[in-house]
Amino acid sequence: MAHNAANLHFPVMADEVLNCLQPENGGLYVDGTLGLGGHSQAILEASAPSGRVIGFEWDHDAALLAADRLKNFADRITIIQASYADMVDELVKIGIEGIDGLLVDLGVSSLQLDQPERGFSFREDAPLDMRMNRDLQIDATVILARSSEEELADIFYHYGEERQARRIAAYICKVRKTSPVKTTKQLAHLVASAVPRRFHPEKIHVATRVFQALRIAVNRELDNLVRLLAEAPKLLRPEAVFCVITFHSLEDRIVKQAFRKDERLKVVRKKPVRAQDEEIAVNPRARSAKLRSAVRLEG
Ligand SMILES: C[S@@+](CC[C@H](N)C(=O)[O-])C[C@H]1O[C@@H](n2cnc3c(N)ncnc32)[C@H](O)[C@@H]1O
Repeated sequence: MAHNAANLHFPVMADEVLNCLQPENGGLYVDGTLGLGGHSQAILEASAPSGRVIGFEWDHDAALLAADRLKNFADRITIIQASYADMVDELVKIGIEGIDGLLVDLGVSSLQLDQPERGFSFREDAPLDMRMNRDLQIDATVILARSSEEELADIFYHYGEERQARRIAAYICKVRKTSPVKTTKQLAHLVASAVPRRFHPEKIHVATRVFQALRIAVNRELDNLVRLLAEAPKLLRPEAVFCVITFHSLEDRIVKQAFRKDERLKVVRKKPVRAQDEEIAVNPRARSAKLRSAVRLEG
């Protein structure tokens, strides 16, 4: 299938996001993870005819595809190729100090997973890159080559919640003495060999958590999220909603605690919103999605 943003990515929980954000004609909304533009398109449609969206995207390829998908809204969308962690600085540069709603939909896009050369997936063999933004200096091969055994174990344990972290790190360090770990399949096989069969999970591949952990480390995903959560509330106008979609418990915990502690925000629902069964049936990725939101208070 040709790379075309609309057929590559289903926006997760699009109705639920609109329900939270309540986009209005004339409003100004920020999509911190534009991806292939699915959520932004929904927000632009819901805020027609004059609502505006500013979309941040770190991945150059995704930003180009999103720009193409959203060309009919060109007068109402601005795309900024930068990290959402730098959102406040980037918006101040273009004279924006107040917005009516903010969405971030974390994680990888299907474009990234479907491009084997990006190294996010082990479905096909490819270099272990995993950088969301190709200007980043350090990719996954560098982390695997240069980190100590203890550092690797910490990455797998903290970012992948992988219980076999020590065993996997020890095996990688043994193998890399003779052959550097450079490709996705190589790493997936290595993890499978390091973990005794009885500890292989039933529902996911044994290497899934290690891949997640490396991706988080390469892109410093948790640092970016923490910075966004600390800084973005100052952009929100009173009543504006901050929505975050997470895909694993680490991120969800960070969002939940940051929303709860932030005196500028009020959490409306304690429990996160989950995708409906009908959506999960057509988009299995939605199964692990959690949507949390908080409203900006006056003052
Ligand atoms: C799950 S996808 C978003 C999909 C999007 N909501 C849609 O409907 O098409 C997450 C996107 O966030 C981007 N991303 C990850 N970290 C980022 C960061 N720090 N700043 C900006 N974009 C980031 C990824 O490149 C990816 O395209």
